[in-house]
Amino acid sequence: MKITIVENYGEMSKEAAKILAAAVKDNLKPVLGLATGGTPVGVYRELIEMYRNGEISFKNVTAANLDEYVGLDAESPQSYVSFMKSNLFGHIDIDPSKTFIPDGKAKDLQKECDRYTELLADIPRTVQLLGLGSDGHIGFNEPGTPFTRHTHIAELTQDTVKDNSRFFASMDEVPRKAITMGIADIVSAQTVLLLASGKNKARAVYDMIKGEVSEDCPASILQRHPNAVIIIDKEAAQLL
Ligand code: GLP
Repeated sequence: MKITIVENYGEMSKEAAKILAAAVKDNLKPVLGLATGGTPVGVYRELIEMYRNGEISFKNVTAANLDEYVGLDAESPQSYVSFMKSNLFGHIDIDPSKTFIPDGKAKDLQKECDRYTELLADIPRTVQLLGLGSDGHIGFNEPGTPFTRHTHIAELTQDTVKDNSRFFASMDEVPRKAITMGIADIVSAQTVLLLASGKNKARAVYDMIKGEVSEDCPASILQRHPNAVIIIDKEAAQLL
């Protein structure tokens, strides 16, 4: 693991954007694995800025998102489709036909999981961007999820429902299930870039870096990844 501790969220976002921009510039057909949540918003802002300044183009980029809530319409403001449109895709020159997010409204959810797993195998990620759940989850792979799983339906834990309720009008509105890339899909990326900011991530950061590699802390699998890059701010690093 290559661990970088920076001052704050802004610096974390800038450092991560540099890595993603380099992957886009240095590859003929870059494939980015992308994440949602509060953590990557600053990174996306930086990338949009680089695009507006003419430093970078996303024309050749393919993007595959980690996850989507089950049961939300793509048009719902809380869906990850909407999140990606408003925080990144709607502001850059990426070809929408090359952006992929699991369909949380699919009639046959198992079939959708299998379709997404196959899709991911066809488009190996150059860089997979990740946030970190306060319980150590990545994507929606909650503690206890086998490391060998591919895309599957996940039941959200109470902690995750509570953490994510800030994006909804109330706790009751937070979907209890999601389709998520599995850990096996996530670690197949050439580089995994995990970001964490703020003191409520400090315990998960500690377990990920200093704890045993264990399914109890899904992010701890990154200790075994040949190219895991961890960028965290001082508050998230306070227990190290
Ligand atoms: C959600 C997402 C994760 C994300 C996590 C942390 O559960 N599925 O991909 O990393 O939340 O979110 P935040 O970045 O808002 O702290």
